[in-house]
Amino acid sequence: MPSVLVDTCDVLKQQIESREARVGIVGMGYVGLPLALLFSNQRFRITGFDISEEKVGILNSGGSYIVRILPEEVQRANAFEFRATSDYSVMEDMDVVIICVPTPLDEYHEPDLSFVTDTVKSIAPHVHEGQLIILESTTYPGTTEQVIVPLLESGNRHGLKVSRRPDDPGFHVAFSPEREDPGNETVSREDIPKVIGGCGPDAVKLASALYGSIFKRTIPVSSPAAAEMTKLLENIYRCVNIALVNELKQLCIRMGIDIHEVIDAAKTKPFGFQAFYPGPGLGGHCIPIDPFYLSWKAKEYDFRTRFIELAGEVNIAMPYFVVDQTAAALNDVCKTIKGSKILVLGLAYKRDIDDLRESPSLTIIELLRDKGADVFYNDPYFARVGHGRHYDLNMTNTPLDDLSRYDAVLIVTDHSSYDYRAIVEQSQLVVDTRNATKGIVSPKVVHC
Ligand SMILES: NC(=O)c1ccc[n+]([C@@H]2O[C@H](COP(=O)([O-])OP(=O)(O)OC[C@H]3O[C@@H](n4cnc5c(N)ncnc54)[C@H](O)[C@@H]3O)[C@@H](O)[C@H]2O)c1
Repeated sequence: MPSVLVDTCDVLKQQIESREARVGIVGMGYVGLPLALLFSNQRFRITGFDISEEKVGILNSGGSYIVRILPEEVQRANAFEFRATSDYSVMEDMDVVIICVPTPLDEYHEPDLSFVTDTVKSIAPHVHEGQLIILESTTYPGTTEQVIVPLLESGNRHGLKVSRRPDDPGFHVAFSPEREDPGNETVSREDIPKVIGGCGPDAVKLASALYGSIFKRTIPVSSPAAAEMTKLLENIYRCVNIALVNELKQLCIRMGIDIHEVIDAAKTKPFGFQAFYPGPGLGGHCIPIDPFYLSWKAKEYDFRTRFIELAGEVNIAMPYFVVDQTAAALNDVCKTIKGSKILVLGLAYKRDIDDLRESPSLTIIELLRDKGADVFYNDPYFARVGHGRHYDLNMTNTPLDDLSRYDAVLIVTDHSSYDYRAIVEQSQLVVDTRNATKGIVSPKVVHC
């Protein structure tokens, strides 16, 4: 009998469409866990990989460690065979592997790809024919082709290569950036189009079939590098525009103009303007970090990314500006930062989320302490804050009672659970970095 050639791409595509494909997601964090739940809702059997035994234990017992993900959502997924593990040997059973591990900067402000390379080295021995591997972690253009593919090709037991042309044997590799906006309730996850760049047409076809099952639109681009650059353009666009309004805010304060009134008026223009808002500085795992992945890579091409560097300079200086403005506000009531009791309202890097990463509140607290203030914080999302990569605070949450005992209340994060009118009424002085007290007219409020 003549042998029948089996197209592994078509097989996997059918498995995806029939929900038989097993999907492994590496990194059960803010990106990986919600993604796992989205796939599980579409009846995929998901295995979540994480090096944190604690997270693995919580997920397998139907719990959650991310505030906006309810334990019931994890339990529903568990009922559809969602399991978490730190055992990479079961990677062999996965038809698709999606990598969602951190991509921070190191102490020299350079890309730290160690989480990605450690993950890929752990996956590589288990790579098998026809498997689809997708990187979602944000990174510089070239990472997928120059770092991921060589590690997968050199590390796999079967000597397999990445498939680059239709019907090529081997495994498939793609890059598809995560575009989540935590706390944003106005756009549902499935409405956010998914950009996909593959190492070959089959990788794009398979990744499109996979993501097409949970997102309404997929956007194929010509290469992984184009997809990597797309994500960076989006984040650099935000970083630069936030820096612009942060700089204009400082000028407006000197000129006695309310920047928020100006932005509200400007955004009535029906074309050519998108509103960005000033604040106490950038936070989160993306906007303060990702642009520098490109600055670093650009040096290889003798190129300086001046917009990114200037925006970084302005945004990094914002916590210092806030502390200077707090000192000025205290000075106006004949007080100094040294010896003052200051309550910082909100630690999270933005409203209504439980994420502290790169939050400007951490720098502000350290700067205030360095100047001799007695600093307290309140944030409904953090009972205590210890130490991280760039801070060592060791503080516990202070209840919101008797605000009059603080010399100043400093609003750093405008959580919607706060009653700002009551806060202004009870406080001696309120320094507002977020325009949270908009519409409250009081000589006690200082905007900065
Ligand atoms: N958080 C966001 O809103 C957001 C949005 C868009 C893109 N991103 C990007 O997505 C990526 C992941 O971000 P995140 O916010 O989910 O990070 P996170 O820190 O919340 O989660 C990462 C998880 O990966 C795990 N991990 C680390 N190394 C591992 C390994 N070798 N094997 C298995 N697990 C490992 C960690 O324990 C952690 O649970 C980053 O590149 C980030 O820039 C994040």
